[in-house]
Amino acid sequence: MSAQARPAALTLAAYDELPYDCLPIPQTHPSRLATIARLFGLAPPGVDSCRVLELGCANGNNLIPMAAALPGARFLGIDLSRRQIADGQRNIDAAGLANIELRHADIASIGARDGQFDYIIAHGVYSWVPADVRDKVLAICSENLAPNGVAYVSYNTYPGWGVNGVLREMMTYHARGTSGARTRARKGRAMLDVLGQAMPNTPYGAVVREEIAFLNDVPDGYLSHDHLEGCNDPVYFHQFAEAAGRCKLQYLAEAEFSTMGLGGLPPQALAAMRSVSSDLIAFEQLTDIVRCRAHRQTLLVHQHAPIDRRLGSASIQSHSIWTQATLPPVEAAKPVTTNSAFIGPNGSAFNLGNPLTRAALKVLIERSPEAVGFDQLHLEASNLLRAATVAVPGLDAGRSLLAGELLQFYAAGIVQLRTWEPQVTANVSERPLATKLARLQAGRGSEVASQLHQSVALNPAERSLLGLLDGTRDVPALADAMTRAGALPQPAAGGTRGTATVERVRAMLRQLAKLGLLAKGLVISLVPDVMDLVPFVV
Ligand SMILES: C[S@@+](CC[C@H](N)C(=O)[O-])C[C@H]1O[C@@H](n2cnc3c(N)ncnc32)[C@H](O)[C@@H]1O
Repeated sequence: MSAQARPAALTLAAYDELPYDCLPIPQTHPSRLATIARLFGLAPPGVDSCRVLELGCANGNNLIPMAAALPGARFLGIDLSRRQIADGQRNIDAAGLANIELRHADIASIGARDGQFDYIIAHGVYSWVPADVRDKVLAICSENLAPNGVAYVSYNTYPGWGVNGVLREMMTYHARGTSGARTRARKGRAMLDVLGQAMPNTPYGAVVREEIAFLNDVPDGYLSHDHLEGCNDPVYFHQFAEAAGRCKLQYLAEAEFSTMGLGGLPPQALAAMRSVSSDLIAFEQLTDIVRCRAHRQTLLVHQHAPIDRRLGSASIQSHSIWTQATLPPVEAAKPVTTNSAFIGPNGSAFNLGNPLTRAALKVLIERSPEAVGFDQLHLEASNLLRAATVAVPGLDAGRSLLAGELLQFYAAGIVQLRTWEPQVTANVSERPLATKLARLQAGRGSEVASQLHQSVALNPAERSLLGLLDGTRDVPALADAMTRAGALPQPAAGGTRGTATVERVRAMLRQLAKLGLLAKGLVISLVPDVMDLVPFVV
């Protein structure tokens, strides 16, 4: 076996023995890539009919929900683990998808004959493969990428992976001489136990203990492949950008836009960092040091793509906007004139001083997970203010103020932008509907891919309910079916199903809708006596 072939063969065995817990990654979705490219003035290929390649796709759990959501697009995933590809193929067959192929193949085998792709994804691969395969990943991102295409590559970075690397090295040292992914994971965990107990109460000890606590919670597949693989080579961001440049690719942005730059740093500190940064790459490299960043999800485009980095607030106005921020019920009940404590998607609370922005965020929370176009959002927020007899800024001033604040929210990760609308609804319809794929996944395990391309963990009752949402049952019928299946308590002997059971199912449906698990279908009327007669499709 040649030196180059050996690591690849080992990787294959390890992933065949202990498959990777592959999940949908929202940052890799072509709509996310297209949105960011558009934000920076590019004209990326349309998402509905795009061609997507994923390198190291494992069992396709990231690619399959994309294929289900975009029937007019085509997807190719390749992976060296025969078992993972076979697992994925079974899921594709069960879901009846004809627009996706999973191929058992080596990244090294991809060439010009495989054609061009509008979007290329390599998530969790670059740092975990030998140097020649790493170079090949970037070569594919260049040679197989359509002229206006966007590539996504994630990788471990320094300095954050410095601490992780210390733990990795101690775990692999402790597992030396052993083989088998499961055995090595067991050995690794034993070492984490020892170190967790021994770490002193110093700043260094606290940093290491935090990482140990994180690793204690991850599944064996993650620990084994992310930390104990033969290959795990973090890079500095500038090294990655230079390697991409050698392949005639340029840095576009991070797929999680809010992780770019450094919000919250004092202006003098930012100015000092800029003064020693010759360009964006140098500045971003410094931000990694300040944040102690351990991981990046970088978007690349061809070197001559005309990126326009002037992010004016006008760029927001051509997108629709949505949020996963929330308002606790007591805060939501407050009038728009009063300051409310919003909760950001990351769980931190924040207030908004400006009534127009406050009203806009309330509208977005109410409508989530659907998105609202900028013009409509401005209109609805202004109407909320008028209804509360609050002064509304003039049209141009209001639009400009709202666009500016939304751009800040986007940079802070409070709102997201969309240029493509998933088939998702915030409404619980008369006969609620979930996608065939979500229903299949609910039957298999607790992790289900939402229409937002997020992985959602469900409890047994929610799984049972989701599995029944084929659009044929109304809410009382769902309550009956769940009770029969033992997912809800049986009525007392001789009793009938109570209103409380139906209300519980309705509440669960509202929760599934918020999580992006309900697809558009028949809509329940807000005027039941008239509209109940004519359900309509949106
Ligand atoms: C850490 S896993 C990541 C899987 C998936 N992309 C995810 O993030 O959930 C790395 C994947 O790359 C695959 N892989 C490693 N080397 C490869 C190669 N040379 N060619 C194709 N696939 C490879 C492995 O089999 C494994 O499924």
